[in-house]
Amino acid sequence: MSNNEAINNIRTQANIVDIIGSYINISKKGSNYFCICPFHDDHSPSMSISESKQIYKCFSCGAAGNVFTFVKEYENVTYQEAVSIVADKIGITYNNKFKVAENIKYKKEYDIYSLATKYYQNNLKTEIGKKALKYLKERGLNEEVIEEFKIGVSLNDKFALTNIFLNKKIPISDLEELGLISKYDGQAHDIFVNRIMFPIVNNEGFIVSYSARIYNNEETSKYINTKETKIFNKGSILYNLYNAKKHIKKANFVILVEGQMDAIRLSSVGIKNVVALMGSALTDKQINLLKKLNVPVYLSLDNDEAGQKATLTNGNLLNENQIETFVISFSDYKDPDEYIKNMGKDAYIRNIKNKKSFFEYKINNLKSKKNLNSTNELASYINEVLSYVVSENDEILKNLTINKLSTDYGIDKKILNEKLANLKPIKIKKITEEKVKHNDKKKLNKYEKAIDAIIYFMCSDPIYIKMYEKKLGYIPNKTYLSIINDILYFYEVNKYINIADFITFISLKNKNVDILNNIVANSNELVINENEMEGYIKIVKEDIKNKEIAELKKKLKNELDFDKKIALAEKITKIKKGSV
Ligand code: CTP
Ligand code: MN
Repeated sequence: MSNNEAINNIRTQANIVDIIGSYINISKKGSNYFCICPFHDDHSPSMSISESKQIYKCFSCGAAGNVFTFVKEYENVTYQEAVSIVADKIGITYNNKFKVAENIKYKKEYDIYSLATKYYQNNLKTEIGKKALKYLKERGLNEEVIEEFKIGVSLNDKFALTNIFLNKKIPISDLEELGLISKYDGQAHDIFVNRIMFPIVNNEGFIVSYSARIYNNEETSKYINTKETKIFNKGSILYNLYNAKKHIKKANFVILVEGQMDAIRLSSVGIKNVVALMGSALTDKQINLLKKLNVPVYLSLDNDEAGQKATLTNGNLLNENQIETFVISFSDYKDPDEYIKNMGKDAYIRNIKNKKSFFEYKINNLKSKKNLNSTNELASYINEVLSYVVSENDEILKNLTINKLSTDYGIDKKILNEKLANLKPIKIKKITEEKVKHNDKKKLNKYEKAIDAIIYFMCSDPIYIKMYEKKLGYIPNKTYLSIINDILYFYEVNKYINIADFITFISLKNKNVDILNNIVANSNELVINENEMEGYIKIVKEDIKNKEIAELKKKLKNELDFDKKIALAEKITKIKKGSV
């Protein structure tokens, strides 16, 4: 069995309805299945699942694909990993020997980062890296942890990495684009000099940038980070998420810290379900990543004023996105890293156990900022607490809070409840980020619709492949033509075709995946029969004809030779009549 056959075998045995159902609730209407779409902020079920075709499609955001696409998107893993997960779910062993490397879009770029990282790591093992290693050891990181996080050091030589890449004949412009090298007065030099290098891993597990810390020089900025590049967007990455994912599933919660050193520290003492913000507030994309984990978030940010502010900001963001949020508090030390280094792992674990709900944290935080002996401040305190209560979902918590306010400050419960009734809950924030991603569903014209339909038909039954070959044979669009060539190839090799397996095929090639998924989303509802196919072929032919005429007209306009002009005009007339 080839890898493709093995995968198709798994797909055939896994019912998409069951697999999606293992993540979210599905309801059945007639012969169709529906669920809330997990890929956008959905409130009424807009995702439909076709059991017969073994595909899903969201009417609202346009997400579509087969069972592996769903798992890949939902779990944020690679396609091959999604195959393994599905295989596990249905109890099939997916033999590793079948695994082939996926076609990776940014392979060249990832290879460059991998090479640079190996170089930085190696520096730590040499004489010139001794000081840096000493620094790391003094911070309490052992070799195992250093290795696990692929920590390295850039040397005090601004041509070190540049020369390595020059020797390997890697174009300097590529390295400039990737944020590793920069040019000064026309001369290329390293961007990272004499710093501890913390590689940043993206959600697929590839190193895409660095956060680089000073270690023996205090006068420059503590951290510098790689600029945004085509492979690195800071706001869509949470530090350590790729490695933490399986631990998060197991622990059933995720700890969110501010700095990578905090994440590394927690991880080094065995608390591995931790991710770091890298200093900024949560972005929509990061919230989406957290939301997909489907577990409560425990905030464990810095202990200073800024950290408390960040706890409020991020806690509110998480709340607005309906993610259950807790706060792990600790005292005396600046951040979880220093706390654990001084107080030990067990003390921190006790703090995890004593976590507070974000709601409670907010109230305590507010209390600490007010002088409740002042009537004015007390009134504003109570009003603010009520504004928290109104947005809280937990009725019991709401009730307890009202009761406590009433007894603590001697206020009639009726007054509190009346006040509460007049307050409006904060709006639940909608995450639009993912929607945008799928919504390439821009209005298609009739030609584009017809091409989508033809491709969709061809993936559904070989009859339509035959019809295409006989009656059309060409489509005036390179990308779509390349998908059609893949269809022809798939059928040639496998002697059958269906949309679900063809999606796998394209996904493993990692080329035109989004376009195919859009085609599925756009054409999924169409009636499939030969008459319809004829209709679409006609539309595309008309388009081809119009394009040809337009081309000839352009030539005609520029042609100076009289006889050639006549010939062109005749050709145009012929095409218009349809005799060419
Ligand atoms: N950060 C940054 N640029 C800075 C300062 C901080 O990008 N000039 C980011 C880093 O990702 C850092 C995080 O913000 O990890 C938190 O900053 P901070 O608390 O100052 O750093 P620590 O994580 O405590 O780092 P260390 O313990 O090494 O001082
Ligand atoms: Mn720190």
